[in-house]
Amino acid sequence: MKNSMLLLVGSDKDFCQFLEKRLKDMSYIVHTATCGKDAMTVFRDINPMVVLMDLMLPDIDGLDLLKQMKGEIPDTEVIIVTGHGNMELAVKSFQYDATDFITKPLKRNALEQALERAAKKIFLRRRLQERADNKALREIVVNELVNEDVLVIGADYRIMDINAPMLSKLGVSRETVIGRYCYEITHHLDRPCSGEEHPCPLEQSFNTQKPSQTTHIHLDNQKREIYYAISCYPILENDRVTGAIELSRDITHEIDDQKNLLQQSKLASIGRLAAGVAHEINNPLTTILTTAMLLQEDIEPENPIYKELGIIASETLRCRKIVTALLDFAKQSKPQKKEYDLRELIGEVVLLTRKQAAFKDVLVESVCTVDMEPMQMDKSLLQQALINLVLNAIESTDSGGKVTVSAKIDHDTGKAEIQVQDTGKGIPQEELEKIFDPFYTTKESGTGLGLAITSGIIAQHSGTITVESQLGQGSTFIIQLPFHQDAASA
Ligand SMILES: Nc1ncnc2c1ncn2[C@@H]1O[C@H](COP(=O)(O)OP(=O)(O)OP(=O)(O)O)[C@@H](O)[C@H]1O
Ligand SMILES: [Mg+2]
Repeated sequence: MKNSMLLLVGSDKDFCQFLEKRLKDMSYIVHTATCGKDAMTVFRDINPMVVLMDLMLPDIDGLDLLKQMKGEIPDTEVIIVTGHGNMELAVKSFQYDATDFITKPLKRNALEQALERAAKKIFLRRRLQERADNKALREIVVNELVNEDVLVIGADYRIMDINAPMLSKLGVSRETVIGRYCYEITHHLDRPCSGEEHPCPLEQSFNTQKPSQTTHIHLDNQKREIYYAISCYPILENDRVTGAIELSRDITHEIDDQKNLLQQSKLASIGRLAAGVAHEINNPLTTILTTAMLLQEDIEPENPIYKELGIIASETLRCRKIVTALLDFAKQSKPQKKEYDLRELIGEVVLLTRKQAAFKDVLVESVCTVDMEPMQMDKSLLQQALINLVLNAIESTDSGGKVTVSAKIDHDTGKAEIQVQDTGKGIPQEELEKIFDPFYTTKESGTGLGLAITSGIIAQHSGTITVESQLGQGSTFIIQLPFHQDAASA
């Protein structure tokens, strides 16, 4: 790939200059364009093997440019680079056969890895075009594409070969797979995949004799969505398709990065808004509250106005709660991390939520399986995050139920895992996606900011938060935090 022609398309001048320098340092011959129109002119002129493209262009939607380029020269490897992407964009890019989707700011090695993937695809295509016989083909498949799942499939949909990474993911042996139908092994179906949601890329390649791409969403054994980008290359013998090579790549990480980016930018803009208005609203609210209470003091409790003044006071208090939560949100400043014992932190959280638990007759207990060591954290922020989770758990659990806060350290991964588990009503599947969104609430007096604040705090500690839930059985929120925060960004 060294000395290959590469086209760099983007209107962000500083970023493009930075990329151009890095690419030149890697010995690419770099051509640049700042808009879609120029990009197509240069593209037709130089026929680059690789295009690096920002999706936000002044004159055309980046996805349309991607489609246009792929329409003219399908073999071009297009790497999308964007700072404004979202999950759907990432999925769409892969559907239109982008080689990779990387986000700004560039993560370490992200560019190198994307270029390496492009190089591998170009290499594979060249070998296929040489009409390698099956044996040579298998060699490439097994030895050179070790990071992706690879199947060689006949025109009758029967599996002819499979590589080792895919075998180990499926947990089966080669002998049990060879000769079986691909849809049977990968999808547990009794006929080929079909439909808009789950199209069969093989069918398309068989019909058109051309490579085809698609994205499939599968559920893993814990019902989590796994996104696969699937590419299919037909094997031609005497102008007849005799089979295809199918490469699948797990792109869930890329998609999750997009989801987090989106969530964080949503949080940041709400934070800014909140900082602007919350202070202004707090003062009049205090005046309304005290005036209502003073008026109440002047009249007898039997007077019907007494009750109405009570409503004014309690509703004002509710508004104050929202404003306070918004201010907490706006306060998302840099965490002050110091060493603190996780076990102690959890003990305090249980203590601080005792009153609410007793009120609902729910038992809150902590279980720390191993000896804890001091870890780097902003104690008051993490405490707030855990209190939000425990309060949610208590609020969702009927009397007699139980909330368990547990923690353990996995020294192999260098991560601490904290779980808040309840025996409450659970969260319906379709709501799981929404509960971390700011202002999403199913409670009459909720602000819907608790989980949004919590996920912001966990992100500030470079951690992740996930949830598993079964209706009628309960929910478990799982936090993973890197134990040593020194390398973690704030
Ligand atoms: N442990 C849980 N069990 C069941 N549902 C939950 C649980 N935790 C959160 N939820 C759901 O997620 C929604 C959002 O939670 P979040 O903490 O963000 O806001 P809230 O609890 O409604 O309001 P606030 O935190 O301001 O009191 C809740 O309204 C509830 O529907
Ligand atoms: Mg809450």
